[in-house]
Amino acid sequence: MQRLYRKRIVLGVGGGIAAYKSAELVRRLRDHGAEVRVVMTQGGREFITPLTLQALSGHPVHLDLLDPAAEAAMGHIELARWADLVLIAPATADLMARLAQGVADDLLTTLVLATNAPVALAPAMNQAMWADPATQANREQLLARGIRLFGPGSGSQACGDIGMGRMLEAEELARAAADCFETGMLTGKHLLITAGPTQENIDPVRYITNHSSGKMGFALAEAAAEAGARVTLVTGPVFLPTPDRVQRIDVVSARDMLAACEAAMPCDILIAAAAVADYRPEVVAPHKLKKDPSTGDGLLLQMVRNPDILATLAGRADRPFCVGFAAETENLLEYAARKLRDKNLDLIVANDVANPSIGFNSEDNAVSVIDRQQHETRFGQASKGHIARALVAFIAERYKES
Ligand code: PMT
Repeated sequence: MQRLYRKRIVLGVGGGIAAYKSAELVRRLRDHGAEVRVVMTQGGREFITPLTLQALSGHPVHLDLLDPAAEAAMGHIELARWADLVLIAPATADLMARLAQGVADDLLTTLVLATNAPVALAPAMNQAMWADPATQANREQLLARGIRLFGPGSGSQACGDIGMGRMLEAEELARAAADCFETGMLTGKHLLITAGPTQENIDPVRYITNHSSGKMGFALAEAAAEAGARVTLVTGPVFLPTPDRVQRIDVVSARDMLAACEAAMPCDILIAAAAVADYRPEVVAPHKLKKDPSTGDGLLLQMVRNPDILATLAGRADRPFCVGFAAETENLLEYAARKLRDKNLDLIVANDVANPSIGFNSEDNAVSVIDRQQHETRFGQASKGHIARALVAFIAERYKES
């Protein structure tokens, strides 16, 4: 099971003998589906070569804060924003002390200050160093700041001592990293999520569709599964793998999507991220349409309205908590608020699709959520995975209050 599928992990490697295990850790994280970028401290480089970690991660290793070439490729702030999780393994006593003090004198410590992603440390040190009151005080301080600690474990150590301070094994660390994304906020709830475009046939070889890639809807499905929900994902034609623990139903047209959603009911929360075609050709030609000299250079297609899936489900007696999306190129908030009212929704996510770096088929998104009281909550530009986790947490809160 790929519990870290598409998760972006910055692995920080400190200067301890356990750094040899970091090579295996990179492999395990990737086996679980993560994308890994490695940052090494000067000390880390004394124990394992950057080349080894570059070969295993498939990306150049980040070494120095003040390296113009590396900064031009992916600067430290960009790396800090890229990460879904910063995992430091091994985290030495010195590194823990510097992090506890907020020191930022190398790339790794600077990155920890600059990131909004969760940070986890896998301590690795001699048992006496771990037991020292200074290290224990640093540990308390780091935990109080929300930094997670994986381990250390107990056992025989490289120096010959026996006791606490061993870095956890690679597989244990990979599992602990995956657990960071499990919130349990929606345990026991059924979420129905629509994603992707619909295709409306003109004839057997042509159809009308739009630019939706499904990335936003799939990221929401993944985040909802991580939040503990049972997730049904009804998707139009897209080229994306199914997230773990998600039941996927593939459909083609808007009418198929409505039928699949109705069959999946009841649900507790509906999130409609699909870009559904509002119209379809009234008649689907049974054979490929030929150029017709009698109509000149034009072709007239008579279109009819498709059913509105979201409004239909929001109008049912067993209505779920309804969250819509509004893809707009102008008057974003005004049009989104109107759709919230017209479709009888609890929340609407306003998505500015005029900006090519967010919206359709982009890796990132930036949205505003509007509620029934017209309050707007803004989620700034970040990866669709980030945005999805933030939206699912927000929706879970509002659902509980409803
Ligand atoms: O898939 P990606 O490439 O990642 O892009 C994401 C996205 C831009 C498609 C997504 O974030 C988004 O904004 N989806 C909604 C797009 C849209 O078509 O919005 P709309 O304003 O036409 O529809 C409003 C709401 O009603 C949407 O929740 C839509 O799913 C729903 N709807 C619309 C028409 C219809 N017949 N049935 C519906 O359920």
